[in-house]
Amino acid sequence: MGLSAAALVLGCALASRFAHAADATVGADVFKSECAECHSPKEGRNKKGPSLFGIVGRKAASLPDYKYSDALRGRTDWVWTPEKLHGYLSQPAKQTNPGTKMKYDGLTDAKDLDDLISYLGTLH
Ligand code: HEC
Repeated sequence: MGLSAAALVLGCALASRFAHAADATVGADVFKSECAECHSPKEGRNKKGPSLFGIVGRKAASLPDYKYSDALRGRTDWVWTPEKLHGYLSQPAKQTNPGTKMKYDGLTDAKDLDDLISYLGTLH
């Protein structure tokens, strides 16, 4: 493959990654099927896991009324940016944060993950 062809393929890959603007409406459905069992999007409502209201931009383990694991409380330098959430949610939580109480196997579908994170960004 010539260099320009390679550049074209790469360009298309990047374009398709960004052109389909992540869809928060689809993300809401991903949330329902993947996360809602343990997480509420409502402020102050903790289930098995902490409320995810305002999660994008929130510091890890920062809700005063939820009992986090020591593993997550130790992550004082973590802020839940979209990038951080992407890494954390794309693989088993135990891999990114050994000792966590979050028993979740990870979301491997890149589009679902983008949509989900876009939805999480609306929870303010
Ligand atoms: C089986 C239950 C379960 C599922 C499913 C689950 N989580 Fe969690 N989640 C937890 C628990 C429990 C914690 C607290 C972890 C700890 O203290 O170590 C947590 C913590 C988190 C945190 C850190 C919150 C904070 O305040 O620092 C984020 C972000 C998160 N989950 C997002 C998600 C998302 C998004 C999904 C769906 C893709 C999901 N979780 C699926 C149980 C779950």
